[in-house]
Amino acid sequence: MKDIISKRVKDLQPSGIREFFDLVMGMRDVISLGVGESDFATPWNIRETGIFALERGYTTYTSNKGLYKLRLQIARFLKARHGLEYDPDCEILITVGVSEGLDLAMRALINPGEKVVVPQPSYVSYDAVVSLCGGKPTYVYTTEKDGFKLTPQALNSAIDKNTKAVILNYPSNPTGISYTKKELEALKRVILKHNIICITDEIYDELTFDYTHTSFASLGSVKNKTLYLNGFSKNYAMTGWRVGYACGPKDIISAMTKIHQYTILCVPTISQFAAAEALSSGRRSVEAMKREYKRRREFILSGLNRLGLKCVKPSGAFYVFPSIKNTQMSSLEFAKRLLKQQKVAVVPGDAFGKNGEGFIRISYACEMDKLKEALNRIEEFLRKK
Ligand SMILES: Cc1ncc(COP(=O)(O)O)c(C=O)c1O
Repeated sequence: MKDIISKRVKDLQPSGIREFFDLVMGMRDVISLGVGESDFATPWNIRETGIFALERGYTTYTSNKGLYKLRLQIARFLKARHGLEYDPDCEILITVGVSEGLDLAMRALINPGEKVVVPQPSYVSYDAVVSLCGGKPTYVYTTEKDGFKLTPQALNSAIDKNTKAVILNYPSNPTGISYTKKELEALKRVILKHNIICITDEIYDELTFDYTHTSFASLGSVKNKTLYLNGFSKNYAMTGWRVGYACGPKDIISAMTKIHQYTILCVPTISQFAAAEALSSGRRSVEAMKREYKRRREFILSGLNRLGLKCVKPSGAFYVFPSIKNTQMSSLEFAKRLLKQQKVAVVPGDAFGKNGEGFIRISYACEMDKLKEALNRIEEFLRKK
């Protein structure tokens, strides 16, 4: 039999991050500023709730949509935080992280050949999930000059009659940038004008440092055109628990649930109990983690500036995206040589789209001592290059 593997999968490029981290595996004493997850363990009260759920024997499936208690808590949380109203019965679906939410969204919304606008640099799975369902990503290359933000003009020009949706992620992975309410209002006008769906990935929304996050769906008239994705991985340091949620119009959530019930059934039950605990009493630990990330952000920004590696100031998440253009190296060459010579792992910027070339992504979700040592090593690397 020829062609065992489907064409769609064969055409998919392996993730640039994975390729690079295959190199890191097996090397000793590497300081990794590469991974996109917190260095904190999940707060204890959340872990304990997961353990207690096990002890009580909650080891069966939940409803396909997810534990009702968790959906209700999400609905209350979103109402209190953003004034958003979602019906826990039919407008909220618990997913295996935002990852599953993204995949379900594409499969539920996109017919083969339809287009999805993907601003880049962006999180690595967006173009993959669009392509896997037969859709076509339309890349919009944001620039350092525009603070890596999607402008209404660029969005408007990217949309044509085959465009079904746009993916908006803020605070952003890999740049850490976010949008003001005014900027979101301007994007909203374009979305309403063209009558497309906005899929917002707001997974870092609680990790914002200098401003209040505005949820896209809270901008009034656009709520019924918005699919809101969020999860527990980043805000609550719960990447391994695999819990996210999708909120949106009933017909979209019901279509996503149809796929989810055949492919996943439900999110692991004990993880859902733990997530419910995160919402009811995880606030204090989020604030403590956030304070620490902010301290590290100041430290890494001033260090990079001192070394002449300029970057757009991130306002959230735990990434910085400095330019390495003045080193005359490509992103991959910089990352490989830094790894080999100084044992510091960063992600080459082109892993996030071709306009990420000339940049690297540094994650500061890493202990302060290691960050300090990593900066010293980067300084040494630049001196010797
Ligand atoms: C922007 C963004 N969206 C989604 C995800 C996936 O998160 P989850 O663990 O909820 O699947 C990540 C993970 O790095 C991310 O950075």
